[in-house]
Amino acid sequence: MKPRVTIVLGLQWGDEGKGKILDVMAAEADWVLRAQGGNNAGHTVEIGKEKYVLHLVPSGILRSDVSCLIAGGAVVDPTGLVKEIEGLTKRRIRTRGRLHLAAQAHLVLPHHRAVDQGSEKRRGHGKIGTTGRGIGPAYSDKAARIGLRAGELALPAKELGRRIRERVAAHNHAATSQGWEKISATRTIREIGQAARILRPYLADGVMLAHQAVASGKRILIEGAQGTFLDVDHGTYPFVTSSHCTAGGACTGTGVPPTAIHRVVGVLKAYTTRVGGGPFVTEDGTLGHLLHGMGREFGSTTGRARRCGWFDAVLVRRAVQLNGVTEMAITNLDGLDGLEKIPVCVGYRLNGKIFKEPPVEASAWAKCRPVYRVFEGWCEPTTEARHWKQLPRKARTYLSAIAEMVGAPLGIISVGAGRDQTFRHG
Ligand code: GDP
Ligand code: IMO
Ligand code: MG
Repeated sequence: MKPRVTIVLGLQWGDEGKGKILDVMAAEADWVLRAQGGNNAGHTVEIGKEKYVLHLVPSGILRSDVSCLIAGGAVVDPTGLVKEIEGLTKRRIRTRGRLHLAAQAHLVLPHHRAVDQGSEKRRGHGKIGTTGRGIGPAYSDKAARIGLRAGELALPAKELGRRIRERVAAHNHAATSQGWEKISATRTIREIGQAARILRPYLADGVMLAHQAVASGKRILIEGAQGTFLDVDHGTYPFVTSSHCTAGGACTGTGVPPTAIHRVVGVLKAYTTRVGGGPFVTEDGTLGHLLHGMGREFGSTTGRARRCGWFDAVLVRRAVQLNGVTEMAITNLDGLDGLEKIPVCVGYRLNGKIFKEPPVEASAWAKCRPVYRVFEGWCEPTTEARHWKQLPRKARTYLSAIAEMVGAPLGIISVGAGRDQTFRHG
């Protein structure tokens, strides 16, 4: 049977609208697999007047006939996941039997959060601006081969307690010299023990589930978290997260082989945002002011105001190459509705030269200045458009030019947070 696996991931610095696009695409899916990241993610889905912000649970959960897997490449804060499940249950979204947690996924424990927050404090002005959710330290432990995995939540309480106590003791030993907060082992064991009781029925062999779904020809969406330039290998290092947010990470994170992927949907905003520190060539305070004034662009996980800037074609062209994007889903076109002029960055100026590719070093990246091509704004609302032809001509020109510049076709256009404010190109 021909595999039908689509990767859906972010082409910028996260918050591109992946949650919304995944929810729309999940209408024609059987499975949604979350590949990487943890509850640093915040994926917003608006259905009528209801707004859901998902952190770990795949966006497919809001479609009752879709099954969901938090795959082995993700890192899972057990208490955070329990809260999320309880929040969904209160809103009558069933998770039992539909949501599965890969035993292979690594756990984020309270001491990881303490390390994350303590290390950020120490970095001072050079801080990354992490979400403080313990993501980096959990992935560090995974790479150092000392992490605990979700499957260990099924151990007898005594053994699980012993393993946690060992980690917390090592943490507390180093805490004073490193400036981390110390953690209570007893409280941690109690907290994780409680979460373990609730999460045990959700545990599964994530690779086996994914392969069964692939082999039986199910329609699968792999949900990326964060975005291409937060990828630990390909992002604006060190201002990145600690997982692989690119297409390769979707495969290693789920265990679905590259040969099973038939489509890669790159989600991007019609402009650019980023949360936290790091280079941002097209950042523009005036645009930020305008969008924040409209109540837009506040982080769904931490509530921080997102930094805003113009569309950066240098960045997205690289993202298209890295991910093998077969089509793009462009969101938040309506954010540009009121503007008379819309600049798009077509090159980086550095030391008197113009570059079409981003530099390797974050410090050089921060020194780049944008070379803009300015488009005429359409100065009318796009939010009511339901077909490509209903968009203002100038908006179509803008989108088509972007597609041409970055080298990937337009697939989906989004002109509002609602499900119905979405249509296909052409
Ligand atoms: P994600 O992390 O990629 O899922 O994105 P977030 O949910 O963090 O941020 C995207 C924000 O944009 C959310 O508040 C969405 O509801 C909203 N959104 C998505 N697409 C559109 C759009 O086309 N127009 C508007 N106005 N909002 C959108
Ligand atoms: P979604 O899935 C936007 C950013 C943080 C920080 C950097 C490292 O909603 O797109 P971390 O806590 O991961 O160690 O922080 O990455 N970051 C995100 N920015 N969207 C996200 O997820 C993010 N997840 C992490 O702001 O700059
Ligand atoms: Mg988000």
